[in-house]
Amino acid sequence: MKKFLLHPVTITAIVSTFILLLPYMVPTKAAPVWSDKELRAKALSVNLRPNPKTYKELLKAVDNPQNRLSREKIALGKKLFFDTRLSRDKTLNCASCHILNEGGDDNRPTAIGFHGRINPHHLNSPTVLNSALAKYEFWDGRAKDVEEQAGGPVQAPFEMNMTPKEVEARLNKDSALKAEFNKVFGKDKIVFGDVQKAIGAYERTLLTRGAYDEFLDGNNSAISASAKRGMTLFISKGCIGCHVGMGVGGLSIQKFPLRYYFSDYLGLVLNPKLSIKDSPYPFKNLGHFYGKGDMQLFRVPILRNITKTAPYFHNGSVKDIKEVVRIMSKYQLGDEFNKEQIKDVVEFLKTLEGKIVEY
Ligand code: HEC
Ligand code: HEC
Repeated sequence: MKKFLLHPVTITAIVSTFILLLPYMVPTKAAPVWSDKELRAKALSVNLRPNPKTYKELLKAVDNPQNRLSREKIALGKKLFFDTRLSRDKTLNCASCHILNEGGDDNRPTAIGFHGRINPHHLNSPTVLNSALAKYEFWDGRAKDVEEQAGGPVQAPFEMNMTPKEVEARLNKDSALKAEFNKVFGKDKIVFGDVQKAIGAYERTLLTRGAYDEFLDGNNSAISASAKRGMTLFISKGCIGCHVGMGVGGLSIQKFPLRYYFSDYLGLVLNPKLSIKDSPYPFKNLGHFYGKGDMQLFRVPILRNITKTAPYFHNGSVKDIKEVVRIMSKYQLGDEFNKEQIKDVVEFLKTLEGKIVEY
């Protein structure tokens, strides 16, 4: 006689289907409704901060005890930022990939450097605007500040392709520049470390202010009702768990994606060429870059001016900011936003656009 008991495989299938569907069955909590005053107080209490308005405030926010800011040093750094002598064939400067009036990046999916060489990891140029506010630099957070960072692109074979010695030899031939360095650093020769320091000092002044800062400073009408709803979602749903501080990011290194979904593994099963690390990636993996320690750990990007710096993610693989917000809500929060919510968050992100402050 046949038993009518369920086969263990069937039971396992039913239970695992239930577990997989569980996240979709729990209704998501509605966002709170805050007055302008409450929203501002909430924002400030979770360490969202306006950018400095004056030189004095700037010093308080970004001065580096190992590289004190001064007007002369900043001016010198600005010159070097635009100096093509820092690249082997004298065709590239820092601004080639970090165009200051276009969001501080190059708007390309991946960077193109010396003789058209593309970044070997298909890495997208992040913005230099506000990057001095970060605690870690680069997509994997491997440099601790803008001074250390500035040594990287000059030497990378696929960027400016120079050695520190070659830079020193070139610049020391320029007696006017040598005199300027002497005034700032008090040495009779230009050394590479001081080139990094001067550029870093200039980068520390590349902070932007916009509608968001106006709102945080007390102007209720600086941002729209939709942006306020977006900001409320950003705070209450937990984007601020990672994107926080003056730069709205840059302060920590975090896992991405944080959550995995069964559907993402289907691609892996169907394509034997993919590695286990490719599959949970919510979109195509270009450049096989897995962040710090190859652990899918990435420096949390700074979100100021984000709506001007498409395409997105370390590999520049997503063009549409709405899709980025959807991916973030699904994979980082486990709470996929609907169309309305995405629209509001994008309106909020637009308020993070700003102009470079003339300190
Ligand atoms: C060929 C294009 C290219 C050039 C030239 C270039 N960069 Fe970059 N920059 C990039 C890319 C790509 C990254 C990300 C690399 C990574 O994370 O490994 C980057 C990262 C940075 C960052 C880190 C930003 C952050 O928030 O993490 C700063 C700051 C920066 N560059 C400044 C400079 C300076 C200063 C110069 C000139 C000395 C320069 N760059 C020259 C492409 C370029
Ligand atoms: C657990 C940490 C974490 C949370 C929570 C989080 N993010 Fe992110 N976010 C990241 C990391 C890490 C990246 C970089 C991923 C990469 O490039 O591979 C990123 C990237 C982004 C980018 C693209 C940045 C760029 O320069 O390309 C945007 C926009 C963004 N997040 C917005 C949001 C929004 C909106 C929320 C809330 C819905 C959110 N994030 C929640 C960690 C987080």
